[in-house]
Amino acid sequence: MKVLVVGSGAREHALVWKISQSRLVKKIYCAPGNAGIGQIAELVDIKPEDINGLLEFALSERIGLTVVGPEAPLSAGIVDVFKERGLRIFGPGKNASALESSKIFAKKIMKKYRIPTAEFEVFFDYEQALAFVKDARRPLVIKADGLCAGKGVFVCDELEDQEQALSSIFKESLFGEAGRNILIEEKLDGEEASIIVISDGKNIVSMASSQDHKRVFDNDEGPNTGGMGAYSPAPAVNRKIFKQIEEKIIIPVIRAMEKERALYCGVLYAGIMLTQEGPKVLEFNVRFGDPETQAILPRLKSDLVEVMLAALEQKLKNYSLEWDNRACVCVVLASGGYPGGYEKGKKITGLEKIKSLKDVFVFHSGTKFKGGEVVTDGGRVLGVTALGKDIKAALSRVYNTVGMINFEKMHYRKDIGRRALVRRNDFRKLKRSK
Ligand code: AMP
Ligand code: GLY
Repeated sequence: MKVLVVGSGAREHALVWKISQSRLVKKIYCAPGNAGIGQIAELVDIKPEDINGLLEFALSERIGLTVVGPEAPLSAGIVDVFKERGLRIFGPGKNASALESSKIFAKKIMKKYRIPTAEFEVFFDYEQALAFVKDARRPLVIKADGLCAGKGVFVCDELEDQEQALSSIFKESLFGEAGRNILIEEKLDGEEASIIVISDGKNIVSMASSQDHKRVFDNDEGPNTGGMGAYSPAPAVNRKIFKQIEEKIIIPVIRAMEKERALYCGVLYAGIMLTQEGPKVLEFNVRFGDPETQAILPRLKSDLVEVMLAALEQKLKNYSLEWDNRACVCVVLASGGYPGGYEKGKKITGLEKIKSLKDVFVFHSGTKFKGGEVVTDGGRVLGVTALGKDIKAALSRVYNTVGMINFEKMHYRKDIGRRALVRRNDFRKLKRSK
C-alpha cells in the first residue's frame, strides 16, 4: 500500500518512521515534509492546507491510506473531502474536529455529558467579560475559542493580566476571527498529562501516557511554545488514574460525539490536569500530540498502520497494542529567539555521528537541505529522542546525544523529565523507608 502523511514537523517524522516499519506499506509520501523525513519518504511539495492539491495527488498516486498530522486540514474537512472521493484517510471529519477547533463546542459537550473539566463561562463581548473578571477576583484562564496555533490561552493570576488578555483578544483582535468568542475558566492546579487514544467511533485503544513541557525555559518559565520536550510513560498517570481517565473522560466523549451525530474516528488527544478532585480535561486535540508522539512511537511495538486500518473498519473492540516497557524522552532543540522571532538557514552539525547510535532517534522539525547540508528552517528544529531502561537512563542517553549536535544560537531545556525523575526518586525513598 502507498501511504501519504500530511505535515512537516517532528511529529510527522516520527509517524513516517513508524509507518515505514509496517509490513503493509510499500511506499510513503509526505507533504510537504522536511530534510529528515526526506530520508525515508518521498517529499511532495503540497501544503497541508491545500486540500484540493492533496486530493488530486492522492487520487493520481492511488494512495491507500492518508494520515494527517496537523489540526488545520482536519478542521477544514480534509477527511470528508477524501472520503467522498472513496479515499481511505485516518482522522475525524470536520464536525468531529470541532472538539479542537472550537473550545466552546468542546466545553459545551463536556458540560452536557458531565465530563470533568474546569468551570467556565462563554463571552462574546469585551465589557461583559471585563465585568466578570473584575467581579471574580481570582486566578482565571482566558481562552480564544478558535485555532490559535497553541497561543490562544492566557493563564492569569492577577486582574491586571486578565484585563490585558481581554484587551488583546477583543480590542486588538490578536487572533482575528478565532478570538471573536472566548471562554473564561477557573484555573486548575495539578500536574498535566497527555492521554492519546485511537477511536473507531465506538471503541478506543489507548496509546501510552506522556507528558509535554510547554514553557520555553527550565522550571516552566517563560512563554508557552509548541512543546519543548516530552516523555513517556508519565509516572503520574498510574494504572488507576489511567482507567479513570478512560472511563470518565475518553469513553464518555466518544459516546457523546456519537449521540451528537459527529462520529469520532481517528486520534483523540486529551490534555488532562490531575487535580485533587481527580483528572479534569484542559483541552481536546483531534490529532497526535507534538512532541508527545516522538516519545510515544518508539515505545510502540505494534504496527501503527494496522491499528489505523482497524479503526477505519470499526474493529477496535478488544484490540490491544503492545508496548516496550522502557522509558522514552524527547528533547526539542530550538532556534535562538523561539517562540518569538528567529533566524533560519543555520548549518546543523553532528547529525552524521549519531546515526549509528542505538535507541536514539533524531526527528526533524524545521530543517531543510541546502547545498548538500542540513540547515535550520523553523522555530523547533529537532526532536532528539532516546529510549532507556528507565527515565534516568533515557535522560542520560538523550542529553548525551544533544551534546553532539550544534547549530548557531541553538537552545533547549535542560530539565526535560525532571519531574518524572523526582517522582521516581521519591518513590524509591518511600519504598526504602518502609
Ligand atoms: P489548552 O490549549 O487549552 O490546553 O491550554 C494550554 C495550556 O494552558 C495547558 O496545557 C495548561 O498548561 C494551561 N491551561 C489551560 N486551561 C487551564 C486551566 N483551566 N487551569 C490551569 N491551566 C490551564
Ligand atoms: N503538545 C501539545 C500539542 O500537541 O498540542
